[in-house]
Amino acid sequence: MPIQFDSESRTFKLDTDSSSYLIKIHETGHILNLYYGAPIPDATIQGREKRRVSASFSLYDPICGIDGISPDTAPMEYGCNGAGDFRVSALSVRNHNGDSTTDIRYASHRIYPGKKKIPGMPTTYVNADNEADTLEIDAVDAVTGIRITLFYTVFHDLGVMTRRVRAVNYSQYPCHLERVLSLCMDIPSMDFDLITLHGRHNNERNYCRRPLVRGLQGVESKRGSSSHNHNPFAAIVQCSANEEYGACYGFNLVYSGNFIAMAECDFNATTRFVMGINPTDFSWKLEPGEVFDTPEAVMVYTDRGIGEMSRMFHRFYNRHLIRGRWKTEKRPLLINNWEGTFFDFNTEKLVAFADTAKELGIEMLVMDDGWFGKRNDDNCSLGDWFVNEQKLPGGLGVLIDQIHARGLKFGMWFEPEMVSPDSELFRTHPDWHIHVKGRHPMLGRHQYVLDLTRRDVRENIWQQMDAILSKYEIDYIKWDFNRNISDAASALLEPERQTEFFHRYVLGTYQLMERLTTTYPNILLENCSGGGGRFDPGMLSFSPQIWTSDNTDPIDRLPIQFGTSLCYPASTMGAHVSACSRTGIETRGNVALWGTFGYELDPRKLTEAEKEAVKAQVAEYHQYYDLIHYGDLYRLVSPWEDQHLAVWEFVSESMEEALVTKVSIGNVWDRYRLVRMKGLDPNKKYHCPQLNITCSGALLMNAGIDMTELAAWDYQSAKLYFHTVDE
Ligand code: DGJ
Repeated sequence: MPIQFDSESRTFKLDTDSSSYLIKIHETGHILNLYYGAPIPDATIQGREKRRVSASFSLYDPICGIDGISPDTAPMEYGCNGAGDFRVSALSVRNHNGDSTTDIRYASHRIYPGKKKIPGMPTTYVNADNEADTLEIDAVDAVTGIRITLFYTVFHDLGVMTRRVRAVNYSQYPCHLERVLSLCMDIPSMDFDLITLHGRHNNERNYCRRPLVRGLQGVESKRGSSSHNHNPFAAIVQCSANEEYGACYGFNLVYSGNFIAMAECDFNATTRFVMGINPTDFSWKLEPGEVFDTPEAVMVYTDRGIGEMSRMFHRFYNRHLIRGRWKTEKRPLLINNWEGTFFDFNTEKLVAFADTAKELGIEMLVMDDGWFGKRNDDNCSLGDWFVNEQKLPGGLGVLIDQIHARGLKFGMWFEPEMVSPDSELFRTHPDWHIHVKGRHPMLGRHQYVLDLTRRDVRENIWQQMDAILSKYEIDYIKWDFNRNISDAASALLEPERQTEFFHRYVLGTYQLMERLTTTYPNILLENCSGGGGRFDPGMLSFSPQIWTSDNTDPIDRLPIQFGTSLCYPASTMGAHVSACSRTGIETRGNVALWGTFGYELDPRKLTEAEKEAVKAQVAEYHQYYDLIHYGDLYRLVSPWEDQHLAVWEFVSESMEEALVTKVSIGNVWDRYRLVRMKGLDPNKKYHCPQLNITCSGALLMNAGIDMTELAAWDYQSAKLYFHTVDE
């Protein structure tokens, strides 16, 4: 049983094949974490509750006296504010008296197979109830009447647990949730490194690793979206952990708005890690009887290194997060016109794109920004989702028919959450954008964000999109989001609920996306936010792929894709071959092949030699689709370890195929390069046609391959394919 309750010691034990997690109900009713780590057989652990050293003034619970636990040091399962636990808290409730002391104690629990959905919010899911088990622990604050339910779902075979929290106001007074995080973890040491992913537009999800030190450290977003700047991902890893070895805890929040991921190391040299909705600019009023659900956090633990941590996330997301038709069905190979034309296109040009694309074996044309209103640059027309007939004479139907007549699918771009001041929508509804009364809101890319907390605003945008989608055969949508949210307020929220704005905005966006994906389940949705500014599991629940970055230079892309792969699978990473001239088309193709793969250039400008290269790449896209999308990724040489080259490998689940890609970045001749493959069956024989060798998996993994002279000059790249052969 993945979840057991030992009634004698009052301990819950949650087991996966790579971890055990122990929670104890203390005699005071405090819910304590005894352990999270490699599997252990024991039902409980003695003497872990106190963790007492000589704390400052040593607060203690009067029920069991000074020799009992102190909330200041005890390993709290869900740390609360104000009742003697001074570490970063997960919960703080301001009650009707105005104070925010919060103290929850165990009340009851339930264990059941399967997993529930969170109303209005994306979650990971089970395909069948026997894939996971759930524990719900209820805890009550006796004074405020708040009941907190801690949810734990254990995906035993995948080494994954998910956590979330529900708050219900059982009192007769309203209260305010000042912070209500999804996850709180007390780790009995601080001998770890913290890994996070930071960046900016054109340079997302860079790897950042630093030792944990005393005090608070972590990342957050206050931008209204998960952001380019910090991803809602963090890993706490043993200081000596590398790709192959070492204890790693990985955390990822299924949420697309403001978040925190924060570690605090205290006087005791223990660590508390919390993750959830950012309490800055947040407070939620809960009327009697009302319910609040936090987003879900995903946790993995492995003692087999950072690489295995990533693969656990990848397998889990491919099976339990990505939804709908395109979870398993092969996605059409697309060409997007953005970098090929920017705003300068018309029907004729797009049809000419389609003609050449068809010759090359490309399967779908995506029309990017600029087809609507009077948009010829980024100054206007967002919100006016009707066709620009000057560019597309006769309307969308004329264009789409011609694309379909050539045997290509058709996709198009929207930025549904935005409005340009110069638009009919803005002129008709000058109060629908997010702004604070009496202030001039900030502009970003000449645009405002629509107030999607409002039903009428969402309905208007939906009606406009639906008018197009119900009329034409649209196979794909790119959903863009090109600014951050400032001046956050809604005209329809009462003053004391204005602090709910950011979360309500995210819920409004999710509602619109859910409506789109349920009404049009066959549409392949790709999210985008100025590249990868909203690359998070919340968005992945609606769109199986997200545009990874606007930076399509393959060399710049390496750290971005390596960083993104820390927790997101290749199947989710939008990656295209563009016209970037720094490298030849082969390297652009080899790097884009790591993701969803496609083109983003004017195909008419390709030379004959490049066209031949594209045809070969198209064939490789089909050949390696399953291997890359659903195989195991091994980062053999990562940009954060080596400035001269990058090497990565995919291995099929059956271990019968592998694909190694090497890219030379510069000065590769600095030393002899032996690269050891990983994840193969040591006892099988593999053949590599490019090297013309046949040898054992054991040799490839232990002796390695000499890569010194392979594609050794700057920006060259090579792929090596391996498949098993009979003895
Ligand atoms: C930002 C996206 O990341 C680009 O790919 C492109 O769609 C532009 N927006 C269009 O304005």
